[in-house]
Amino acid sequence: MLIQFFFFFFFFCALTYTQGEETKSWKKLINIAISGAAGMISNHLLFKLASGEVFGPDQPIALKLLGSERSFEALEGVAMELEDSLFPLLREVSIGIDAYEVFQDADWALLIGAKPRGPGMERADLLDINGQIFAEQGKALNAVASRNVKVIVVGNPCNTNALICLKNAPDIPAKNFHALTRLDENRAKCQLALKAGVFYDKVSNVTIWGNHSTTQVPDFLNAKINGIPVKEVIKDTKWLEEEFTEMVQKRGGVLIKKWGRSSAASTAVSVVDAIRSLVTPTPEGDWISSGVYTAGNPYGIAEDIVFSMPCRSKGDGDYELVKDVIIDDYLRSRIKMTEAELLAEKRCVAHLTGEGIAVCDLPGDTMLPGEM
Ligand code: LMR
Repeated sequence: MLIQFFFFFFFFCALTYTQGEETKSWKKLINIAISGAAGMISNHLLFKLASGEVFGPDQPIALKLLGSERSFEALEGVAMELEDSLFPLLREVSIGIDAYEVFQDADWALLIGAKPRGPGMERADLLDINGQIFAEQGKALNAVASRNVKVIVVGNPCNTNALICLKNAPDIPAKNFHALTRLDENRAKCQLALKAGVFYDKVSNVTIWGNHSTTQVPDFLNAKINGIPVKEVIKDTKWLEEEFTEMVQKRGGVLIKKWGRSSAASTAVSVVDAIRSLVTPTPEGDWISSGVYTAGNPYGIAEDIVFSMPCRSKGDGDYELVKDVIIDDYLRSRIKMTEAELLAEKRCVAHLTGEGIAVCDLPGDTMLPGEM
C-alpha cells in the first residue's frame, strides 16, 4: 500500500492512499472540513469521524482541519494523534489556517470555531466578531467547496452565524446550512425520559423550536414517549412548562458553572447524531430538530432566518420540514419570543448579510445557553 506524504507551508497532507486495488470496493472519498479543529469539541469529534462511526465502516474520509495562527502547533499535534491512531478509513489529514485552502472540495463543513464572549463584551460585539468569521467562511465555501456541501454551524450564536454564512455563499443552496440544535434535542429527550422513568430511546418526536439560546422552545406538545403524547404520560403540566423548559434552555450554562467550560463531549456526540440523521433515513413517524433556513416554512415563522424546526431526511443528506405538527397558543407564544430574538439578531448583523446598516436592538434577556 503506497502512502504519500506532502508538506507545504501552513498546510500538509499525510496518509494519502492511492486509489488502487485496495480501495476498489470502498465508497468514493468524502472531504470533511472542520473549523476550530484544535478545540475541545473537535478533539472528541475528529476521532469519531475517523473511526467510521459517523459515515459508516465502508466510507473513506479526508479530514481538513482549519485552525488559526495561534492554534497552529496544537493543530499539528491533533494531526499527529490522528495519524498515530491508524484508522483504516482515514485517508488524508490536512491542516491549515486559510479557509480558501482548507475548504477546497469540502463535502461537509463542520464550523465549530468561534470566539466566546469576553469580559465586558456586549452581545452585539459578539455577534459582530463571530459574524465576521462566518461571513469570511461563507465566502470561502462559496468559492471552493463542493456545490452540494452540507454545512453544520456549531460556533455560537449558531443560528445567526449560519444565516451570515449562507448569505455569503449564494452559490450553495441555503437549505444545506444547519445550526446545531441537536444537543438541545438530546437534552430534552434525556429530561423527559428521566421524568417518565423510561430509557431515552422511548422518547421521540422532540422538536426544539427557534434559537440555540435561552429562548429556545423544547416542544413537549408533539413529543411522544412510547408512541404516546408526552402530556398523557407526564401529567404535570407545570413541570413541563416551567422546570423542564428552563432546564433544557439553560442546560449549557449550568454545565459551564459546574465544569468550568462549555460542553464539548456531548456537543461532539450531537454533531455525530446530526450528521447521521442526514445520511440515514429518519425512522418512520419520527423527526429530528435542526436550525434551518425558514424560506417557505409551513408554520408561519418569519422567512429568511435560521430557525430550529422539525425535519425528516430520506438519508441522502437532504431533509424536508415536517408538516403534521400541532401548534397551540402556548407553543405559538413561545415560538414568537424566540423568533423575535432571531429577527433582532438578524438586524444586528445586516452589515454582514448584505442587507444594509446594522441596527442593534437586542432584547435585554438575549443570551446563549452558556450565559446566565
Ligand atoms: C451549550 O449549549 O452547551 C453551549 O452552546 C453553551 C455555550 O454558550 O457555549
